[in-house]
Amino acid sequence: MRIAIISDIHSNSIALSAVMSEIESSSIDEIICLGDIIGYGPDPLTCIDVVQEKCSLALLGNHDFACRTQPVNFNQLAREAALWTRNKLDTAWPDEAARERRISFLDRLPVRRLFQDDPRLLCVHGSSRCATNEYVFPDDVEDNARFDRLFQRFEGICFEGHTHMPVVFEQETRTDDDGVEHSTYTRYLGYREDARSPGPDGTGTIRGASKVPLKLSANRKYIINPGSVGQPRDRDPWACWAILDYEPDSDEMMISFRRTYYDWHRVLEMIRHSQQAEEQLPYRLDEFLGARLERGH
Ligand SMILES: [Fe+2]
Repeated sequence: MRIAIISDIHSNSIALSAVMSEIESSSIDEIICLGDIIGYGPDPLTCIDVVQEKCSLALLGNHDFACRTQPVNFNQLAREAALWTRNKLDTAWPDEAARERRISFLDRLPVRRLFQDDPRLLCVHGSSRCATNEYVFPDDVEDNARFDRLFQRFEGICFEGHTHMPVVFEQETRTDDDGVEHSTYTRYLGYREDARSPGPDGTGTIRGASKVPLKLSANRKYIINPGSVGQPRDRDPWACWAILDYEPDSDEMMISFRRTYYDWHRVLEMIRHSQQAEEQLPYRLDEFLGARLERGH
């Protein structure tokens, strides 16, 4: 079975469409979305529609929640983008049925769910102990005590997004002579610190990233972050996602990261267009939200 894991689309329908095309040609059986479908980008409605139609499981992200309620603890750009998105959801006219369907889909997104009730496969947006809001960055691996607590809260793998940084954390546990368990943690980056993805004619797959694709051991535990489809922050502008290969009755699992090229300039154009078309609104999408896509952070 091949599962595509996507996260943090952030209303970037151009990136999502490119990733979906690649998923369709990759023999994928199911798609999981780890949340933040909307917020920041210019096309929330299409992103909601695609996720609702294509994903067998979707989780609630903090931006999805903020766009349906009130942005709290957001910086100015994120806050205005959430208010803009909330207005878009409310005023999508004239299709009232579609508006209601999208809103009810967002309002029913779970915060924590086992994929297909498999106890090995927990899915959240943030972390195992704070499902929507806790960030687990690649450099956090140094904090052994914190990782002990994070790994206590799930059995096999915890899939999480939120940081927009693709990474795998592996836990190895040993018992000492006194019967006390000690865990150590290894980080495998899903991106290269010394290079970006190749140009549009390249393969789209990161080659040489540290030990990725990674064979997962049945007697170890993992946190896996697939990176971000719509707003990567690892200095690589290509959309990022992951594939999990596994069989429900087998312990063998393999994770690999994928990068997909898309035209980020079109997203910036859509943001500029929205600014001109909606000058009267008290909030707007800032051009920075489009310009940052090219830098990939
Ligand atoms: Fe996000």
